Amino acid sequence: MLVLGIETSCDETAAAVVSDAAPRIRSDLVLSQLAEHRPYGGVVPEIAARAHLDHLDGLIARAMDEAGIGFDALDAVAVTGGPGLIGGVIVGVMEAKAIALARGLTFVAVNHLEGHALSVRLEHEVAFPYLLLLVSGGHCQLLLVEGVGRYRRLGTTIDDAAGECFDKGAKLLGLGYPGGPAIAAAARAGDATRLALPRPMLGRKGCDFSFSGLKTALAQRVARHAGSDGALDPADVADLAASLQAAIADCLLDRTRNAIAACGGRVKTLVTAGGVASNEILRAGLADLARTSGLDFVAPRPALCTDNGAMIAWAGIERLKNGGSGDALDFAPRPRWPLDPDAPPAPGAGVKA
Ligand code: KG4
Ligand code: ZN
Repeated sequence: MLVLGIETSCDETAAAVVSDAAPRIRSDLVLSQLAEHRPYGGVVPEIAARAHLDHLDGLIARAMDEAGIGFDALDAVAVTGGPGLIGGVIVGVMEAKAIALARGLTFVAVNHLEGHALSVRLEHEVAFPYLLLLVSGGHCQLLLVEGVGRYRRLGTTIDDAAGECFDKGAKLLGLGYPGGPAIAAAARAGDATRLALPRPMLGRKGCDFSFSGLKTALAQRVARHAGSDGALDPADVADLAASLQAAIADCLLDRTRNAIAACGGRVKTLVTAGGVASNEILRAGLADLARTSGLDFVAPRPALCTDNGAMIAWAGIERLKNGGSGDALDFAPRPRWPLDPDAPPAPGAGVKA
């Protein structure tokens, strides 16, 4: 089976060709729009949608070239159908529908979160069920992954996502966008204990997360340590970056520990996915936690943690191999699309799914 995967739900335009037979990844191209959004310190939805429109055709053509196939060799086109910035999602979905219609291919609208949730199985043999810490720019959830299309949400954020906390923290520290890699780089020269930040929810029952208090605490530290010109000493920036990274990781680990207990021996593997899952400190912490809990720890390589087309193609393959027949061409792009529709709404405001 050969599937073209398309991802346009945020600020990465991505296309990939993936097979169910080795080598699975035939091509995997990601075009970052960083330069276009950087002057604004974050993703501007309208700019993102227009950039996807400009670049998607050419990127798909290159992905097909690199895979060395024509469109008639494909079995299906899988595309992120949501959740995400709706303008970009519409661009990707319309492109995928057009290709599917023109070539008579199966069309699969993939939940972006399902793309992340199954991404680990693209390059690793991980059996269901597994416990998943899904941490990205818009989402922060603990899920019991029981099978393809079967997700039980154990916890979610009641305010910001972990990636959002990295991004907003980096902005406060003047480190630019995207915040995760910038914080991780600055933290290497820093001392995580000197200007310690709080760990919201630590030690509380349950598996929900909260990061807005951490962001406020960082803003207060920045205000306290900034000079009269508003600038921070580079050593303070490094220490605060290290402290923020450690605090976010500690919160994620604490909640994951509760989720492991809640699973009560039903899972053998702890998995992480999403952009924040590429963070080295978090990965090391999760590996330790899994070891002491008697679980295996498996994570996609960093390039498959951040948004990419290969995970969307792979989720399409998983769905088709699981008996799915694809989606109708009147599929409507979904700005919100929870993985577990039965989960109660999160108690906080501003929750994305
Ligand atoms: O999964 P993703 O690429 O896009 C979404 O679906 O949101 O995740 C992007 C998020 C951003 O918030 C970015 O700052 C964060 O992942 N991120 C990281 C790292 N690399 C990306 N956070 C911490 N450490 C990293 N190395
Ligand atoms: Zn993502």
